[in-house]
Amino acid sequence: MFREGLNVFRNIAAASLLALALCIWAPRTVAQQKIDPEGHEWWRHAVFYELYPRSFADSNNDGIGDLKGITSKLDYLKDLGIDAIWIAPCFPSPQVDFGYDVSDYENIDPMYGTLADFDRLVAEGKKRNIKIILDFVVNHTSDQHKWFLDSKSSRTSAHRDWYIWRDGKAPSQPPNNWTSTFGGPAWQFDSGTKQYYYHYFYIQQPDLNWRNPTVKDAMFDQTRFWYKRGVAGFRLDAVDTLYEDPDLKDNPVLPGTDKFGMPNTNEIYNKKLPEVHEALRGLRKVADEYGAVLIGETWTKDVSELKDYYGEHNNELQMPMDLMMTGFKELSAPQYRSHINAVESAGGWPVFVITNHDIVRSYTRYADGAHNDDIAKLMAGMYLTLRGTPILYYGEEIGMENNDPKRKEDVKDPEGRAGWPKEIGRDGERTPMQWSESANAGFSKAKPWLPVPPSYKTHNVVAEMKDENSVLSFYRQLLALRHKEPALLDGSYISINEDDPHALAYLRRYKDEAILVVLNMSAADQKIRFDLSSLGFASPKLSVLLTSFHKPLTGMSDALSMEPYSVLIAKITK
Ligand code: GLC
Ligand code: CA
Repeated sequence: MFREGLNVFRNIAAASLLALALCIWAPRTVAQQKIDPEGHEWWRHAVFYELYPRSFADSNNDGIGDLKGITSKLDYLKDLGIDAIWIAPCFPSPQVDFGYDVSDYENIDPMYGTLADFDRLVAEGKKRNIKIILDFVVNHTSDQHKWFLDSKSSRTSAHRDWYIWRDGKAPSQPPNNWTSTFGGPAWQFDSGTKQYYYHYFYIQQPDLNWRNPTVKDAMFDQTRFWYKRGVAGFRLDAVDTLYEDPDLKDNPVLPGTDKFGMPNTNEIYNKKLPEVHEALRGLRKVADEYGAVLIGETWTKDVSELKDYYGEHNNELQMPMDLMMTGFKELSAPQYRSHINAVESAGGWPVFVITNHDIVRSYTRYADGAHNDDIAKLMAGMYLTLRGTPILYYGEEIGMENNDPKRKEDVKDPEGRAGWPKEIGRDGERTPMQWSESANAGFSKAKPWLPVPPSYKTHNVVAEMKDENSVLSFYRQLLALRHKEPALLDGSYISINEDDPHALAYLRRYKDEAILVVLNMSAADQKIRFDLSSLGFASPKLSVLLTSFHKPLTGMSDALSMEPYSVLIAKITK
């Protein structure tokens, strides 16, 4: 619970460990002021928001979201506390992979609008201090891109070497055993020129040949096109897959088969080749010409692998995404603690990711049926108080859940059709934003391209704005705090109570003050005790900034009482 406008100090009997003064305070009116005492780059203090353009807001009522729709929601985003939006690909595309198959990097898909609509979005964003980040699909184009159409037209065409063409190993046999991540072999035979082309993703997504310097330069130029239009940076798609072994060696075969029935392999010859870093350095050089930021889709097995994406001289990605938490199946304080500690000791600027358009929403991943909204607030409480730059996924702030297809014939994502029922695809996490309780959740007057879940009746922006205990109200307060508190922006991260199996607790320390965050990741009440004397807080004063408690926070004697799946954020001063 929180109490709006209440400003209560309660002195609580000091016990052996802590002397406390409680101040329950709802910081809703805080100006979205930037505090940047150390002159950090803008993105370090920004909150990013990923939105899936098909699903955010539909201005022309054709059932598909569009740029004008996004522009019409900028005030909502500003008010929420968003500083930059990353728009999943909105370029012309046959939409086989819903935009990740780009047929023209220098335009907007007519279903989303025009370049003029885009310019207006940038201009309106600028008025509100919201920056626009685009999604750059670097590894492949659509098979309908003019480069590929020419490449495919003959073995001697000007663009032949822009993609990866090879003869088969033997008649009717692909060049090697590489498989597509979306099912089947990674090679497609072209009957016109009697060679195979390589596609790590769908057949309609041929891989570009990054070993060809002309391709590199052409791709660098595509980014310039958008920087000149006012784009503040890019999210680089699927960077692991940029290079392949030039000798096309077979990947080692592992036991078993994948979700699509292909033999499992260890993808050592077509992923994460060292040359990837060279390409990233090139993209960064261009980004630096425009003061832009690069975010990367960097899937890594551990923190040391992630570290490499910043570049040896910080000359690759400013924001490589740490996607490792997306694999945490359960809410486990020890698991989160040890991962965060590992990231913290690696030293880079963290970019934790909890969910996105490829991953089951965290609301659904962690829901237990009894505390769903509490868990959503708990996750927010963690995500928005960690060090680093957060990237929210649209709808997280209202507690949107996955709406997975129940039947194969309803699946839109080709991956789900190919892999059904083992792989159901990604439709569930891409459903329309839930704006209100009117038809289609207020997203569109037409039938939306994907169905909204029944929970839109309670989990929508209009309803949650009116409810001070909603997930949205919690996010709004938390985001206001995050923009205002130097300790949350710039403070160091200090893990405390490391032996606690149920609650994750830490300090964000800045100069003489600190913010304490306690997250009860269990379904039971927990009593939490602290001893912060070794951190220089021998008899600290504690003022509560925000909690998700249902009951009023009463005094504490020697321990803090945490409700199931609750979060407490408090300021500590000496
Ligand atoms: C990335 C995108 C995903 C897309 C794939 C191919 O993983 O996030 O949505 O399907 O790349 O471009
Ligand atoms: Ca539309």
